[in-house]
Amino acid sequence: MTASTSHLRKLRQRARAWRNMAVSASMDRLRPSWVPGPHVGYLLTTFRCNMRCASCGAWHAPNDDDLTTAEWFELIPQLRSLDIIKLLGGEPFARPDMADIMAEARRVIDPYIMQLTTNGTATDAIVEAVQRVGWPGLQLRVSIDGLEATHDRQRGVASSFAMATKTLELLAPMQERLGFHMGINFSVTDRSIGEIDEMKALAASFGADLIPGVNVSPFLDGSTSPAENPQHFVLLDNPRRALEALQDRELGTKLQLPRIDHAMGRLITGDVFRQEILQGSLRFRCRALKDIVYMLPDGRIIVCGVDHSPIGNIREQPLSDIWNSATAQAGRARVAACPGCLQASIHILSRLYGGCISPACQDPTRT
Ligand SMILES: C[S@@+](CC[C@H](N)C(=O)[O-])C[C@H]1O[C@@H](n2cnc3c(N)ncnc32)[C@H](O)[C@@H]1O
Ligand code: SF4
Repeated sequence: MTASTSHLRKLRQRARAWRNMAVSASMDRLRPSWVPGPHVGYLLTTFRCNMRCASCGAWHAPNDDDLTTAEWFELIPQLRSLDIIKLLGGEPFARPDMADIMAEARRVIDPYIMQLTTNGTATDAIVEAVQRVGWPGLQLRVSIDGLEATHDRQRGVASSFAMATKTLELLAPMQERLGFHMGINFSVTDRSIGEIDEMKALAASFGADLIPGVNVSPFLDGSTSPAENPQHFVLLDNPRRALEALQDRELGTKLQLPRIDHAMGRLITGDVFRQEILQGSLRFRCRALKDIVYMLPDGRIIVCGVDHSPIGNIREQPLSDIWNSATAQAGRARVAACPGCLQASIHILSRLYGGCISPACQDPTRT
């Protein structure tokens, strides 16, 4: 593909994403009961993981019923309406077929953004996958929770920092040629808070963004509703101190939504983070089951990342039938009644697809 064809393709994907955002946002005002197609997919590829992170429920979850490669290949054509695909886990690279799934999703869906979050330890497999699928829409997120001692302690596995940084070191020189983007997901905890400057320098040395986040509970433990089980911060006794430490540090993702989207992305990201830390769980106009679809590794479609109540399973029904079912409508009612959560990325995307860009647009009383 020539540079100009690739550029045109990128413009087309971006135009499609922004059109979908505009349509969802305006229809949300004109006819709030209208349900768009899913535009953002949170797709959990497996709960398997070689790490033992203190904060994470994934490695405790049953993990022997993941969709097979063939089932993924049957699912992917049903996901053509997605602008943004997030490939998550568990550890996506615990699957030997991860690169095949990425390549097929890129070929068939051709999304605006494909974001994959990894612990970065499967160095060879990750480098090979990026070599195969790297393009400007690919955002690779490698999680590093602090400097070596902090990270290895939090991940529960010796040498995990060395493995993740080795991966970043090998990927860094490939960025310019392939055009993909890299970010380090950095969890801000009482231990890592004093390491922000060193982490910023580390990320810069790889040409990566440093993207701060806070650990919450419940997280990936199959809980059913924030109403029964409200989320709270963990590993962080003083969230305000974290906010102060992060203030004016120019962190965050430049690349969550690239270029023209950059300024808006920064505004939205920063504000959500500040609001969450100051106010705790936020009620917002959530787009779960409207623009956002969330799938577990065994094909279950669930309400959202916090409320794992099942809506259907793509092993039993096409996604479009699940999306238009009475069960999905009941799930949407759960979302409307939700007291709120600390899922910053869902909040940010909800603002974009719901057209709710400024904090003044928040309407916590809306159901
Ligand atoms: C669940 S992991 C899955 C991908 C991969 N295994 C990894 O570690 O990057 C996705 C992201 O969630 C973060 N995470 C872990 N525990 C968390 C928690 N309790 N709250 C919020 N994020 C958490 C990880 O640091 C990582 O950046
Ligand atoms: S955060 Fe990632 S690496 Fe850590 S246990 Fe969870 S899935 Fe594994």
